[in-house]
Amino acid sequence: MRDSIRPWLLLAALALAGCDASDAPAAAAARNDAFDQHCISCHGPDARGIDNLGVDLVASDFVRKSSEAALVEFLKLGRLADDPGTRSGQLMPGFGWVAEGELVSLAAFLKSLHDGG
Ligand code: HEC
Repeated sequence: MRDSIRPWLLLAALALAGCDASDAPAAAAARNDAFDQHCISCHGPDARGIDNLGVDLVASDFVRKSSEAALVEFLKLGRLADDPGTRSGQLMPGFGWVAEGELVSLAAFLKSLHDGG
């Protein structure tokens, strides 16, 4: 009986992936499912940020200087709008409810945006 759940989940995942793919610009290099699911609405399909929603993560010194482990911890907490280290004065929500494995994958993805620079 348990096995009958899995094909359903796979189909749902494929359907979601299909939706995101249609929004993605052809030039987008790397993709990450968790990013598309949780982050794209504010940071954009290419992680370049969206005005008044989320900052550019490719040109982010914070991402460049932070270790993957530090990024996982950051993602769990987010950053309050009145944090002394704020970039935009807007809230970065915490993602402590997201599975650790997905956060690790997200942190690796963010670091990969900075390969070679
Ligand atoms: C509701 C909108 C929103 C969502 C969803 C969101 N973010 Fe953010 N994020 C922001 C904002 C706004 C900031 C800038 C905060 C500031 O001004 O310091 C930010 C900042 C960041 C930073 C720090 C960048 C820097 O240079 O300081 C990282 C890293 C980041 N987000 C990653 C993510 C990831 C990964 C996800 C998905 C799990 C995500 N964000 C989802 C709005 C969002």
